[in-house]
Amino acid sequence: MKRTVKVSLVATLCAALLLAAGCGGAPSQPANQGGSNQPSGSQSPVSGSEAGGEKQVEIFSWWTGAGEAAGLEGLIKLFTEKHPDIEVINAAVAGGAGTNAKAVLASRMSGGNPPDTFQVHAGHELLDTWVAADKMEPLNFLYESEGWYDVFPKQLVEMMSKDGNVYSVAVNIHRGNVMFYNKKVFDENNLTPPTTFDEFFTVAEALKAKGITPLALGDKEPWTALHLFESVLLGVIGPEKYNGLFDGSVSWDDPGVREALETFKRMLQYVNDDHAARNWQDASQLVAQGKAAMNVMGDWAKGYFTTDLNLKGNVDFGWAPSWNTEGTFMVISDTFGLPKGIQHREATIEFLKVLGSREGQDVFNPLKGSIPARTDADVSKYDDYSKEAMQDWSTNELTPSIAHGSAASPGFSEKITQVITVFVTTGNVDQAVADLVAAAGAELK
Ligand code: BGC
Repeated sequence: MKRTVKVSLVATLCAALLLAAGCGGAPSQPANQGGSNQPSGSQSPVSGSEAGGEKQVEIFSWWTGAGEAAGLEGLIKLFTEKHPDIEVINAAVAGGAGTNAKAVLASRMSGGNPPDTFQVHAGHELLDTWVAADKMEPLNFLYESEGWYDVFPKQLVEMMSKDGNVYSVAVNIHRGNVMFYNKKVFDENNLTPPTTFDEFFTVAEALKAKGITPLALGDKEPWTALHLFESVLLGVIGPEKYNGLFDGSVSWDDPGVREALETFKRMLQYVNDDHAARNWQDASQLVAQGKAAMNVMGDWAKGYFTTDLNLKGNVDFGWAPSWNTEGTFMVISDTFGLPKGIQHREATIEFLKVLGSREGQDVFNPLKGSIPARTDADVSKYDDYSKEAMQDWSTNELTPSIAHGSAASPGFSEKITQVITVFVTTGNVDQAVADLVAAAGAELK
């Protein structure tokens, strides 16, 4: 089976995030230049005292609150046990998929005040922004000393690499194209969870007739509508054409894109009326409580169900690939790197070592809902959902997520988010196709 995640290495020098922060000329000089003589990819880290004097590491992410915080807290606890002398500053900024964190990060990076390490998705979100702007140190030395080239899948390392240098460490793999459902709602109504779009619409009618919301959506943060749309798009056009949309071999006015928009529009008739007032957790909660039957979400929702809501897989909730996407795995990977000019370089390297270790990944991922990025995990630590996800990750066709930064530049992701947000309100397919073609023309080089 072909397993390629397309990541164009053609970098857009000043991508949308940097633009948002006023990037336009040379990167500004960090306030505290902790290590101006950065090592090249193959050199060992320089030793010496930390620029700031204190032993600290500031970890910047958007993992705060329900369904998000527990994994990071587990990782920090493990790190602190190993390094009691290093203080961890957990600088998480709330908002799903980095809704607010990305803007804060952009302003800190361009203001010369980088966090010691920060969450960034593997793929274009890392490569087109901070790597392209020369703000990150290559981590080849760490991959060599820790033996990571042997334990991280090659395709994943490629998603974090440019010109032979690797720029971040992946802590996990999330799957985007998952349909979660309330098992009791299906059982009590004698319904079978749908695997195709036709089945979805039949089941949705039956549920609606019984007064149950068929599909939960919470697009108060607009990325969730794009998340649903990209899963529908994948289901309609299949992985090969989906990947082709990002390398220019398939046009955004392909009839399949139009059909995906039509299908998505029809699907929106079956979502909760208050979708615009809810975030992803609120939407997942509708499924957890049996007020809605299904939800398409990344498997951080599984972490939310099991770690925060104490629900049981295959008892309270079930799962399946979203409609028509069996055999394909929509890849999302959270990674952390080493920005140039940070104050606590050595402590940060120690943190990255724990984050990339087998032990670190086996603490973080069972809580977070994701599977380890490493291939040598202790499988006994994972539940049935994750065991299945590990199997699918190693055998399925892989596709990159637009909503979570791997498929295309942040510039394109921002534009398509706007197109889909408008489309949810207007349902105007012609306009959406025209806008998608324009966005692709401007941003997909
Ligand atoms: C991240 C996940 C996170 C989710 C919701 C995604 O972009 O990759 O780690 O749980 O957003 O915030």
